[in-house]
Amino acid sequence: VAAMANQDPETLDALNRIIAAAEPFVHGGTRAVLGEGPVGAPLAFVGEQPGDQEDVQGRPFVGPAGQLLDRAMAEAGVDRSRSYVTNAVKHFKFEQRGKRRLHQTPTAGEVKHYRWWLIRELEFVQPRLVVALGATAVLALAGKALPIGRSRGSAQFLDGFAGFITVHPSYLLRLPDEAAKREAYAAFVADLVQIHALAA
Ligand code: URA
Repeated sequence: VAAMANQDPETLDALNRIIAAAEPFVHGGTRAVLGEGPVGAPLAFVGEQPGDQEDVQGRPFVGPAGQLLDRAMAEAGVDRSRSYVTNAVKHFKFEQRGKRRLHQTPTAGEVKHYRWWLIRELEFVQPRLVVALGATAVLALAGKALPIGRSRGSAQFLDGFAGFITVHPSYLLRLPDEAAKREAYAAFVADLVQIHALAA
C-alpha cells in the first residue's frame, strides 16, 4: 500500500479500484471488501476486517456481527443505508482448519499498512463523525492501542476526524452468558443513540 501512496485517486470510486486491484497484505485474503455507503454520509463506521461471510459476499458487515450491528442501528434510529461502513483492513485474514476459515486478528503492522486507504476513504466521504468499532479500528484511527472500556465515547482521531469509540459487535456475540450479553447490547445501542445525536 505504501507504494500506492504515490497514486492519487481523485474520487472514492477511483480509490476503490486501486484497493480492489491490490494484492492482499494478510494471510488468507482473497478479495478486497470495499467500504459501502454514500459520499457525504454523516456517520462512518469502521470495523476490523471482513469475516468469512463478508469475504464470500464481497460486502462489509453482512455476517453474524453485521446482522447484530444492523439490529442495534435500527433500534437506535441510525439508517445504515445513509451511513458509510468500512473496515480498517480490507482483506479477510484467516487460517484454514479443515473446512473452516478461522479469523485471525491483524497485527499492528498490517493495520498500519492498510491505514492509507482508510484515511483516503474517510477524506472522500467527509463524515461528521467516525465510529471506531473495537480495538483494531481504534488502532487504525487513533494510531495507538487504547483500552476500549476506558476510552469508550467521544474521541479525537488522527487526521482531524471527530471520533467515537465503542465496542465491536462480535464482542457482544462472544460474551458467555445471556445476562451479560443483554447488558452489553443495551450499552451498545445507547452508544449508537449518542452517535446518532452527535452526527445530527
Ligand atoms: N467484522 C468486521 O470487523 N468487519 C466486517 O465487515 C465483518 C465482521
